[in-house]
Amino acid sequence: MVDIDLLSVGSYAGSQPHDQFRWLRENAPVYWHEEPEGRGFWAVTRYDDVKQVGRDHERFSSQPTIMIPDSDSSTGLTGDHTMMLMADPPLHTRMRRLVSREFTPRAAAALAPRVGELATQIVDVVIDRGECDLVSELAGEMPSFVIADVLGIPLDEGRELYHLTEALHSSDEVVSPESRRDAAMQMFAHSQRVWAEKRATPADDLATLLAHGEVAGEPVDEVDFFLWFMLLVDAGGDTTRNLVGAGFQALFEHPDQLERLRHDVVDGDGSLLPTAIEELLRWTSPVIYMRRTATRDTELGGQSIAEGDKVVMYYGAANRDPEAFDEPERLDLGRAPNPHVAFGGGGPHFCLGAHLARIEIGALIREMLTRLDGLEPTAEPEWMPSNFIYGPTRLPVRFTPA
Ligand code: HEM
Repeated sequence: MVDIDLLSVGSYAGSQPHDQFRWLRENAPVYWHEEPEGRGFWAVTRYDDVKQVGRDHERFSSQPTIMIPDSDSSTGLTGDHTMMLMADPPLHTRMRRLVSREFTPRAAAALAPRVGELATQIVDVVIDRGECDLVSELAGEMPSFVIADVLGIPLDEGRELYHLTEALHSSDEVVSPESRRDAAMQMFAHSQRVWAEKRATPADDLATLLAHGEVAGEPVDEVDFFLWFMLLVDAGGDTTRNLVGAGFQALFEHPDQLERLRHDVVDGDGSLLPTAIEELLRWTSPVIYMRRTATRDTELGGQSIAEGDKVVMYYGAANRDPEAFDEPERLDLGRAPNPHVAFGGGGPHFCLGAHLARIEIGALIREMLTRLDGLEPTAEPEWMPSNFIYGPTRLPVRFTPA
């Protein structure tokens, strides 16, 4: 028996708790996990079960929240207002319709040239120095700039918002509830400013679309706008950063794979990059879990679940399930097919930004491997103190200065 503790942030420092996940998949795939300050939850670790939960919104609801704690700060509900991530169909379907055309494969592809320019700018800033922090100076810059660009706000404001999301995602062990509330207030102030600007001066951007939008005939008001703003900044920010940060750490730990990718990107035709991105998503699984709540008494993986029980999908566990992947413990950048669930299991909430994320990740990896010659770590990374989002907060690297 392995000690099971999926709540402690210590379980996610340096690696996801793969020993625990393996034991759970093999012995208790739907496992009752105690929760010191809550009612406890079911931890779901098998690939098929994770997909089943994610796809069945009638049995497994996203309300009131997709976080494990039921505290006020973890719910996306403010009075009558709901954040899309925590809504069920049919409301969810209507909300998603408002923004979905901005995130289609075609819309994401149209942003590729701009994302490529941003990747060049980001590398330009560090290239003469020969050293930098890979997380904050490379990986973190890209998503905050891209979401700022998509929303139609200054790039520097995107960076500020991104720092606020860090405080929102850190656990109670590290960030006090007061600091978290303060970060939420600051986020609200930004949202109010953008709302006022886009109402007064519409432009061709996503914030304008939302500020003038309607869901089921009801205009989006200032509070709805804030929830959208939070969701987009939050969901699009540190997930992508963590994929690039944890992805490079995985490559540094697998020099043969790093060399394989470098060779493909620098000397080859770049054809390995798409499968490499998918494999790094599977391997790192930057979103650790999403929670659902059972809407009725039901059964999952042979286990009885009671109405109101919390059911938690562990994506990193599903992504190493040998029933779904050959040799799941092997990092293989050429892996195909690779039906990972890092963006969710394919249900209604499947990551809206998946196409855009892939473009951001590809542009940054290509730019870093092409221009930062001899890129290598100079110290061990420090890890995000969170049991929800997985990735390093610091990864010092060096390279040959240009
Ligand atoms: C590596 C990067 C990313 C990862 C691993 C990731 C992962 C996820 C996951 C696991 C979900 C929930 C899926 C479910 O419940 O079934 C999700 C939802 C979402 N993601 Fe991402 N995401 C990433 C990047 C992005 C980006 C760049 C954006 C936007 C610009 C974004 C926007 C969203 C939104 C809006 C949702 C909620 C969708 C809904 O409720 O319908 N994500 N993402």
